[in-house]
Amino acid sequence: DWTMGNFCKATVQSLRDQIGPDGRVLLALSGGVDSSVLAALLAEAIGERLTCVFVDHGLMRKNEGDEVEAAFAKWDVNFVRVNAEERFLSKLAGVEDPQEKRHIIGAEFGYVFRDEAERFGITKQDFLAQGTIYPDVIESGQGDADVIKSHHNKLLPAEVVARFQDVLEPLSLLFKDEVRQLGRELGLPEYLVMRQPFPGPGLAIRIIGAVTKEKADTLRDADWIYREEIAKAGLDKQISQYFAVLTNCRSVGVMGDGRTYDYTLALRGVTTTDFMTADFARIPYEVLEAISARIVNEVKNINRIVYDVTTKPPATIEWE
Ligand code: XMP
Repeated sequence: DWTMGNFCKATVQSLRDQIGPDGRVLLALSGGVDSSVLAALLAEAIGERLTCVFVDHGLMRKNEGDEVEAAFAKWDVNFVRVNAEERFLSKLAGVEDPQEKRHIIGAEFGYVFRDEAERFGITKQDFLAQGTIYPDVIESGQGDADVIKSHHNKLLPAEVVARFQDVLEPLSLLFKDEVRQLGRELGLPEYLVMRQPFPGPGLAIRIIGAVTKEKADTLRDADWIYREEIAKAGLDKQISQYFAVLTNCRSVGVMGDGRTYDYTLALRGVTTTDFMTADFARIPYEVLEAISARIVNEVKNINRIVYDVTTKPPATIEWE
């Protein structure tokens, strides 16, 4: 009968069969729950023939790249960090459309993996693995018509796919809560298993409109304060996902004796188990007040804060 324990054993076995006794795997690692669980699964299946490639595209949250590196340093796996901020930001310059941003980032990830495969002698007989999960598959749709959002796992260029024997996506029938259960089954620490999701395109889809380094820095600082205050209020375990969005809206404010004309920051917080539907989190006003006061005081270029009170549907969790 179907249990997570059985699923885990069967998947490890079928991965071994497919990869063979000498095959190697390059894992596209974001440091999020899905790809971390997949790292554990593949490490169990093939040990040191696994190479985890973590691409820091310069659109991570504050300190995130270092946190991912530190988490993986404690494990016995081959881990590589690629700092590619310049490469991604230059490709994104001036691009405003959310789907176009996703396509550019998804493709660029692919090219980085191809380059790293070359560097580590991973051949065309070897494999690329991605932590694609079921909602990524559904929401990305089949043709252009069904697309809600193309999750970046689905955006690899054909030439990159062709560079490997196959692309392995062993989590593609699981929902998020099942992936977490599998992570526990594999002995991953709770702080990794319970991390909130972070989209592959990162802050690029939380900066409405064109992405710049300055905007990414502003958003990182504001988002950091939001996360700090939520943790301080003891709410971090109750809210499934929470983050700040740098809207493209500027409005008039007043500071001292002067007029300002700065950006509006939106705060998002949702409760959900499957991320297919979601409710907005009922964050107490006092907590929102503390977050708002700190952000407008401590972060330049933001003079107004709003809290998003829409459910999914009709909104989505991310703004783009
Ligand atoms: P939405 O915004 O569609 O998000 O309600 C549902 C969940 O998916 C995450 N998300 C993404 N993850 N690439 C990803 O890997 C993406 O392009 C992407 N867009 C949204 C989102 O953070 C939420 O957890």
